[in-house]
Amino acid sequence: MKFLDLGQQPIANAFLTPGKCETEFFYDLEVGVDLDTSLVSHINFVPPSMMFNDSYVYNTSSSKTMVKHFKSIAKEIKQTFGDLKILEIGSNDGTFIRHFDIDKAVAVEPCGNFAKFTSEMGYNTYNNFWDQKLAVQLAHMFNRFDVIYSANCMCHIQDLDSAFRAIYYALDDNGVFIFEDPSLLEMLERNSYDQIYDEHAHIFSVTALNNILQTIGFEIFRVDKTPIHGGSNRVFAKKKHSIQNPPDGSLDIELEQEDIAGVSEKQTYLDFADRVENSKNSLLELLHEIKDGGNKIISYGATSKSTSVFNYCGIGTDLIDYITDTTPDKQGKLSPGVHIPVVSPEEGFDDSVDYAFLGAWNFLEEITKKESKFLRRGGQFITHVPEARILRGEPISTT
Ligand code: TYD
Repeated sequence: MKFLDLGQQPIANAFLTPGKCETEFFYDLEVGVDLDTSLVSHINFVPPSMMFNDSYVYNTSSSKTMVKHFKSIAKEIKQTFGDLKILEIGSNDGTFIRHFDIDKAVAVEPCGNFAKFTSEMGYNTYNNFWDQKLAVQLAHMFNRFDVIYSANCMCHIQDLDSAFRAIYYALDDNGVFIFEDPSLLEMLERNSYDQIYDEHAHIFSVTALNNILQTIGFEIFRVDKTPIHGGSNRVFAKKKHSIQNPPDGSLDIELEQEDIAGVSEKQTYLDFADRVENSKNSLLELLHEIKDGGNKIISYGATSKSTSVFNYCGIGTDLIDYITDTTPDKQGKLSPGVHIPVVSPEEGFDDSVDYAFLGAWNFLEEITKKESKFLRRGGQFITHVPEARILRGEPISTT
């Protein structure tokens, strides 16, 4: 059932070189829910090679929060399951895999510029999309894996059934499959519709994952909630017949919470769509009011999420002078769709800025710590999560 239309959207991470914008690709970002499985997905998928290629710009280590997060989960995996043979799907710049020995870890990464990083670090790296052919190839080369880990990648894969079957094939009979992605429940509760953009083909509820994984032969035995990306679920699954890793009860708690929130009910999504529209109207109203008061507004973090917000709301340089971002590959470019210039924080985050819209609201804690000078001199952050407002010193809860 279709429930949301975020309008014409560009590729969220396709930053443009000024003067070369004529060929920009747009698609209609419509979202639906499959009421049988409760899986929330795009109605029209964007071809993967248009999003994940050798010019991909998102690098995990651009935030200290992410570096700490992956160090900590790597340590926990080793402590809980042993320092065993591990496969990472979607290894990006190696922020996670770097904590594992070169002879025990294998990386899969479709973006060539990032596959190069882990390859140069010495890891066996496969510059491929994850699929059944690759699973067979890897199982043949390395035998089956004890742990398969994937962060912010499974929700990118359009054909989930095939991807999960490939993981089942490549996993040892007593192995564990651990993956984490943004949580649907958190998105519904925070009105953070900007989790929806081309790369996020699905926004997972635990309910949907439980339904889908069961049909493949997996059993979820643990679910952790993490504050990453504005609230994610880390799911631990094993093969159904394995007697190792008995369920710890966390799955039932999550399923119950999602049931109470109505993730399997049509009305929940229709209500969410109404809140998204209200969010758009109130954000536009707030930005206009601030701008009309003669203030300079910039955006902090050229994120995929802000691409989604700006294109859905029609926010361009009339309201936001420019975006600051620490990623060198985004600087000097124009943001997708609405073409707001992106500059480095050194160049743009100066005393002339009155207000900064938080494109990276999920890193509020890290950002407010870093930007205490801006706040002390009276600068203010704006957010649209969970509703459009100026942040007057109060934190957005990201836990
Ligand atoms: P993220 O929320 O991970 O992006 P996405 O919505 O694309 O998943 O934000 C990461 C981006 O924000 C990245 O381009 C770096 C930028 N950033 C800053 O510019 N300054 C900061 O202090 C932080 C934490 C991120």
